[in-house]
Amino acid sequence: MITAAEIRQKYFQFFQSKGHKLIPSASLLPENDPTVLFTTAGMHPLIPYLLGESHPEGRRLVDAQKCVRTQDIDEVGDATHHTFFEMLGNWSLGDYFKEEAIAWSWEFLTDPQWLGLDKNRLACSVFAGDADATFDDEAFSIWRKIGMSEKRIARLPKKNNWWGPGAAGPCGPDTEMFFWAGDPDQVPESFNDDNGLWVEIWNDVFMQYNRKANGTFEPLAQKNVDTGMGLERILAVVNGLADNYRTDLWLPIICKIEELSGKKYLESDTTRRLMRIIADHIKAATFIIGDEKGVVPDNVGAGYIVRRLLRRAIIHGRRLGIKKGQGWVYQVAEEIINLYREAYPELFRNREFVRTHIEREESKFEKTLENGLAEFNDQCETLLCQLDENSEIKVTMPGAVVFELFATYGFPLELIREIAGEKKIEIDEEGFAEEFKKHQELSRTASAGMFKGGLADSSEQTKKLHTAAHLLLASLRQVLGNNVYQKGSNITPERLRFDFSYPEKMTPEQIAEVEWRVNEAIKKDSPIICEEKPLAEAKAEGAMGVFESKYGEKVKVYKMGEVSHEICGGPHASRTGELGHFKIIKEESSSAGVRRIKAVLE
Ligand code: ALA
Repeated sequence: MITAAEIRQKYFQFFQSKGHKLIPSASLLPENDPTVLFTTAGMHPLIPYLLGESHPEGRRLVDAQKCVRTQDIDEVGDATHHTFFEMLGNWSLGDYFKEEAIAWSWEFLTDPQWLGLDKNRLACSVFAGDADATFDDEAFSIWRKIGMSEKRIARLPKKNNWWGPGAAGPCGPDTEMFFWAGDPDQVPESFNDDNGLWVEIWNDVFMQYNRKANGTFEPLAQKNVDTGMGLERILAVVNGLADNYRTDLWLPIICKIEELSGKKYLESDTTRRLMRIIADHIKAATFIIGDEKGVVPDNVGAGYIVRRLLRRAIIHGRRLGIKKGQGWVYQVAEEIINLYREAYPELFRNREFVRTHIEREESKFEKTLENGLAEFNDQCETLLCQLDENSEIKVTMPGAVVFELFATYGFPLELIREIAGEKKIEIDEEGFAEEFKKHQELSRTASAGMFKGGLADSSEQTKKLHTAAHLLLASLRQVLGNNVYQKGSNITPERLRFDFSYPEKMTPEQIAEVEWRVNEAIKKDSPIICEEKPLAEAKAEGAMGVFESKYGEKVKVYKMGEVSHEICGGPHASRTGELGHFKIIKEESSSAGVRRIKAVLE
């Protein structure tokens, strides 16, 4: 059995041997990007570099990136879908392109020194071409040269073989690699992507376009390679397993859930499905709370996702027979923290924080769960007894009832939909939306569109606001003291939102002084200088920045006069004078011990 740690190691070693620098995973919570709640792919934290910023470690990078995707959450429970996963990626930032990318993917997959997969069980797909871009004959010829038979190279449309982070941003045609997971003695001669036994294992994206917000494609000055290989999937494939949950990234968690519930994973389809969902959701919640920029259960934004993940796990735990009141959720989380202790040490470092928030959420939800489930069942019975048994008519739960379960008992909507659905009851989604609007209490909840992925835009105005964020942090520390740290930021071309640690509401005088200091720094019109240096050196010079060094890598430090020195990826304005007039429009509480400022440039 090859372990996850061994695969990570081999991947890093292989690409280091091809001149790549190993960089650490970025946080799961994106910086400066209003369009997504979580990092959804390895390329996400690297967007500024794909668009042309220089990376301090050079043009060839390799990493394993923590990712959370919520759009496939309904698929979780099968053998292969996960909310949290690791994406192994190798990157060319305007350096090598298709030839090397494909040849190295092939070498890593098939050479016995690396993964040693059977060449006869591999296939691939390339972009077929359309009105926006032509057939990728370059990728096709490279595969042919390597020895891939023509029948094993599918030509597929944009839907399959084009990748970008959302509606806009760096994107391009990709080539995907597939492994035959069926009987090795009966590998079909031709590749057919409809056959589920051909499992996708790797995606090499050739980012040669920038898709603009208006939907047009412009060629990128710098041609990049962005690859993504899901660790959970490749681990199962290499070990000949059809079920990801039988690998060492999941088994200890499943065993813990078996122990807590007294049930067996393989007992029935139901136990298997419930255990997978519980393991998946608690793992994702643990990683989000235990992140360098940990987010805790809440009614809005990323915090609301954490709440929903935990509550769904708790309800499914109950259905599996896990008794309440034993603080069981953290016991599962502890297993996860130990499992990832070496690969993601932040989990272990933040374990008390994780424990506190998981236990708090569990006991909060447990209090209403009992009554909520009783109410739920009552409502379902009332609805169902209106029907005679053979009736074909669908039963619908009225919006007001759904809202009651949601608001009074804290049941996330998709959970109500799921449990009602099992009883063949539909829910009145529109009626619920009306009730919801009336009550407005969760009006700030992230809209569904936010989960799809997207891109930090790099307009001039965004750059200026990003620069203003640095000046704001420096000024806040001057006015409020050195205990002020940045807790997060979110920039659109219109405004800047900035969260920072501080225990009290700011006084009007403090707000005025911070504003004044930022504007003074702007008036000085200092050039903005970017220096690249080892992290230790940057820290020794007093540069600000939450940045963890695992591999002794270099970082970029942006200096704005004497005022601000911050470790940051950029991009920024070139002089502070370009910013115009800075104005704070709101100062409010964000969460316990964290304040939030909204500001604009006029
Ligand atoms: N960014 C590409 C993906 O997520 C590699 O599939």
